[in-house]
Parts: sequence; structure tokens; C-alpha cells
Amino acid sequence: MQASRVHELSPEEQAIYRRLDPSRLPQHVAIIMDGNGRWAGKRSLKRFLGHQQGAESVQFVVETASRINLPWLTLYAFSLENNLRRPKTEVNFLMRLLGAYLSNNVKRMNDNNVRIRYIGRTDELPHEVRERMEWAAEQTQQNTGTTLTLALNYGARSELVDAFRGLCQEVQRKELALEHITEQDIQRHLYTAHMPDPDLLIRTSGEMRISNFLLWQIAYTEIFVTDRLWPDFRGVHMLEAIENYQSRNRRYGGLSDDLQSLPGNELVGR
Ligand code: IPE
Ligand code: IPE
Ligand code: MG
Repeated sequence: MQASRVHELSPEEQAIYRRLDPSRLPQHVAIIMDGNGRWAGKRSLKRFLGHQQGAESVQFVVETASRINLPWLTLYAFSLENNLRRPKTEVNFLMRLLGAYLSNNVKRMNDNNVRIRYIGRTDELPHEVRERMEWAAEQTQQNTGTTLTLALNYGARSELVDAFRGLCQEVQRKELALEHITEQDIQRHLYTAHMPDPDLLIRTSGEMRISNFLLWQIAYTEIFVTDRLWPDFRGVHMLEAIENYQSRNRRYGGLSDDLQSLPGNELVGR
């Protein structure tokens, strides 16, 4: 029998994992993987090398997600705006890197029970890359652990455009009445219809912005921004973010737990 490539959590990861409350682990973590160019720039290297190093980080984080049984991990890998606004040479490099990442890591995904999927206007990606993507999805579709979703040629506004087109078609065909449209109807037309909204959104490299990622889905997501650049990000840093997430009080527009228990709060809202 072939030796399993599934590793235990590292000692640093274990130390944080032991401090986590197992009943309050996030179900869905989404990450804006930013800072590859700056990582390379700091070392007087070409941006490409930053992307290459960033691809290494992806696999570390995916395997930590699998070891903590995180059901959903969504990574913003390539935006629609990256595709439109970056030099062709960089875009081509990113496409080749994606193909190589998939070819080299499907075996490890299977060893770690990870299933891979994609969101975004992937039909606009080069044919060879799409073939590789479909191959990786097929090879891992039987896995039941973490679902790794790569956002590729993804933009949240274009996702909403696609969703509204689908919804309008239903109305046009009289399958749905205009006055009956609900939030759920919009949700079921999103690329993410099959998954829960992210509980935690991490952004690396310190930028305090969303950059057109999952705009609908992050309505009540907890946001964690770290100055660490993506190529330096490892599973242990995701666990640190999860520990920080567990210290938050999610209110969804309601009262905080401590206020709720104070006498007299039955008057609130009258
Ligand atoms: C993130 O790194 C990777 C992609 C957006 C493809 P960047 O390439 O944006 O790196 P910075 O932000 O220039 O440092
Ligand atoms: C967001 O990073 C997109 C991805 C990580 C794929 P960008 O580097 O493209 O975002 P901006 O341009 O700084 O907003
Ligand atoms: Mg960037």
C-alpha cells in the first residue's frame, strides 16, 4: 500500500487548534490571496516568482483546512479585473501556473480528501486551462472532506449580473412572479448557490478592501486583514485568524450576548 501523504498538524498549528472551541469552528473560510507582487518586489525578484511562491502557500493552507475538517475553503485566485487590467504576459503566466498547480497537486488533494471546484466566468479562460480544471474536478469529485473552491476570472458584480439574467429568464418564462422574488431566489442563482456564506474572510497584504469578491455572500461575514503577504501565509496563520474569529460576537443586526442578558432589555425596540 502506498504511504499516505496526509500529515498531522504541525506543533505550532496544534497549539492553536487546542485553544479553539470545536463547537464554534467556521464552516466556510474565504481568502483574498494578495501580495504576491510585493513579496517579490521586496526581494528584488520578478512578480512571477511571487506568484510561484504564492501557489506553494495555497497547498499548505488547503492541507491545514483538510486536517481541521473545514467543510468549505474558497480562494480568490484570479479576478475578472486581473484578467482585463494586467499585462498579457502576467495573465499568461498565471494561467500556466494554474495548470501546473492542478497537475502537480491533484494526487495530494485526493490523499487529503479534498474536492476542487471553481466559481467565476471560467468559460472565458484558455481552452487548455479549462481542460485541466475539468480534469482536476473529475479526479477529486468523490472526495468528501474540504471543498476547495477557486475563484477564477471571478468578479462579484458580474456574478450578480449572471444571477439577475437567470432570474429574469424565470420571470420571462412565467416560472416566477416578480412580486414573489425573495433573497433565496437571488441566492440560488449565484455561483455559490450550493454553499453556505463565508463565516470568515481573510485578506493578506494589509489592503482594507474587498476588491469585488463575494459581495452578496459576505453580508455578515467576519473580516480579518493581516499585513502578511500571501507567499508567507501558512496554515498556522489561518488558524490564528480562526482563533481571532472565535473571539468575535456575531450579532447579525441583533443585540450582543452581554446586552441581551441585562435586565430591562425587553424594552428595547418599543
Ligand atoms: C495576488 O497578488 C495575486 C493575484 C491577484 C493574481 P498580486 O499580484 O495582486 O500582488 P500585489 O498586490 O501586486 O503585491
Ligand atoms: C484581489 O487582489 C484579487 C485576487 C486576490 C485574485 P488584487 O490585487 O487584484 O486587488 P486590488 O487591485 O489591490 O484591489
Ligand atoms: Mg494585489
